[in-house]
Amino acid sequence: MRTPLIAGNWKMYKNINEAAELATTLKNVLKDVAADKAEVAICPPFTDLQVVSAVIKGTNIRLGAQNMYAAQEGAFTGEISPLMLRSAGVHYVILGHSERRQYFKETNEDINKKIKMAIEHSLFPILCVGEKLEERENGTTFNVIKTQLTGCLAGIPKDKIGSIVVAYEPIWAIGTGKTATPDQAQEVHKFIRETLVSLYDQVTADAVRIQYGGSVKADNAKTLMNMPDIDGALVGGASLKADSFEAIVKFYK
Ligand code: PGA
Repeated sequence: MRTPLIAGNWKMYKNINEAAELATTLKNVLKDVAADKAEVAICPPFTDLQVVSAVIKGTNIRLGAQNMYAAQEGAFTGEISPLMLRSAGVHYVILGHSERRQYFKETNEDINKKIKMAIEHSLFPILCVGEKLEERENGTTFNVIKTQLTGCLAGIPKDKIGSIVVAYEPIWAIGTGKTATPDQAQEVHKFIRETLVSLYDQVTADAVRIQYGGSVKADNAKTLMNMPDIDGALVGGASLKADSFEAIVKFYK
């Protein structure tokens, strides 16, 4: 049984006060979500990690970061290391988000290094993959996803795959209000699982959680989450307000 993971990606929103307020509200409204039904994580910007960590301490809500650098420490001005994330109480780290790939030119090779370094420091990567609109339209979705998965997971042994969550986020659905239909999403999730079988084996692939992301809202979450290979959601816009995030999480209560 895979426990679904609902993670809120706050992106570059919320100052320290706003983050503390949202985390406090979430802590109160989500306190009776059964841990075996769903796992909940929130991923605020770096500057909010410490305050959010203090607010959610002792609850079932886990803390995630949105990126990290693939080195323990060093002269890398402006970067944040896995050790720093650990010391701020971080559990998950989103890696390879399409906005990082698009605006900051991160490659599968860069993401692969980050995943390895994250695992080495006991962080749990949420690896994002997804195709652009033109790739979907020209029929190359599966090739793109396969290239991303094989590149990002290169050299990662079977016994470490259990700490990785994959998030399928079609780029054309992110922040656009356009969601993949449950069938479109399921088709790719199934393909991701089959690719994991070919890279590892059936038992390993069956244990990996694959989240869907891209304009997930309360009104579309349920049908998406009912699909057999969809194990939760990576939520952007709808995670910035307690009521809309709560409404998504509540499907699992
Ligand atoms: P969205 O973002 O829910 O606002 O589409 C999802 C994401 O980018 O993780």
